[in-house]
Amino acid sequence: MKTYLVIGNPIGHSLSPLIHNYWFKKYKFVNYFYEKRKVDEEDLEKIVNAVRKNELRGVNVTVPFKQKIIPHLDGLDYTAEKTQSVNTLLKKDNRVVGFNTDSIGFYATLLKKYGYETTDNFKFFVIGAGGVTSSIIDGIGEANKIYVTNRTKFRSKELKKKFPKIEIIDWGTKPPICDIVINTTSVGLTKNENLKIDFSDYLNNKHTLFYDLIYNPKETNFLKNAKSRGNKIMNGQMMFLYQAQASFKLWTDVNPEINDEIIKILD
Ligand SMILES: NC(=O)c1ccc[n+]([C@@H]2O[C@H](COP(=O)([O-])OP(=O)(O)OC[C@H]3O[C@@H](n4cnc5c(N)ncnc54)[C@H](OP(=O)(O)O)[C@@H]3O)[C@@H](O)[C@H]2O)c1
Repeated sequence: MKTYLVIGNPIGHSLSPLIHNYWFKKYKFVNYFYEKRKVDEEDLEKIVNAVRKNELRGVNVTVPFKQKIIPHLDGLDYTAEKTQSVNTLLKKDNRVVGFNTDSIGFYATLLKKYGYETTDNFKFFVIGAGGVTSSIIDGIGEANKIYVTNRTKFRSKELKKKFPKIEIIDWGTKPPICDIVINTTSVGLTKNENLKIDFSDYLNNKHTLFYDLIYNPKETNFLKNAKSRGNKIMNGQMMFLYQAQASFKLWTDVNPEINDEIIKILD
């Protein structure tokens, strides 16, 4: 049996096993199996060693270990190094290497799913400065104008050390008009939670895309409000699928298809 894992804490909500086991079956990877495991920080070394010994063939890492796993690894790919966030482990040339596929997963949605030919010269307004935000900024690319706002200013300042070109906006300040507004905070995971940001300048703006990384619930208040203002909206489901696709490709060399059937599995 070739075993793959997603590790996190909590992990019960993870839909990764559904997707990867569907692809293993579809692409006839016999005896390949993907499961979820709740772990504690002291288990991380053991997990990495299991990859080293081929007991595990691949691992996805989720909250709260994307950064904490790094000291246990033998190397990082460029994006994981830049963002200091790892969501995929793979043994390569006898070394356990950490990869970041959140970044490409995010950007792929804008091009492949949303249909932008390019986002060059776009302005982005990014809300949040948590673990996933650096992947989003890396995915956007620093050549674009990126504004960032976060409730805790210290964290946005830390983010600016990694991405010096971003512009920090004080929390609560009315945002400038941008092409894409992204919620990278966890506000909205619980129903009725609302970001306290005044988007009234976006009323009847049919150009701007409001993008929430959250996909459960499918429509957070952030998206509901945007819709009622007339803005375009997208949730985090496709990002989740595209990051999974990139991990699967790293592990198997097969680029699995994202089709309606797999989207239905997630619904
Ligand atoms: N679609 C996908 O594939 C995908 C992938 C990764 C993550 N996500 C989603 O992205 C979200 C963030 O994940 P993460 O790993 O970055 O989490 P995290 O490291 O815990 O960061 C949480 C962020 O939310 C902010 N926040 C929390 N409660 C808040 C409140 N009441 N008011 C204002 N800001 C608040 C935090 O601000 P402070 O710094 O002020 O605390 C911080 O910026 C989660 O909802 C996660 O499900 C989606």
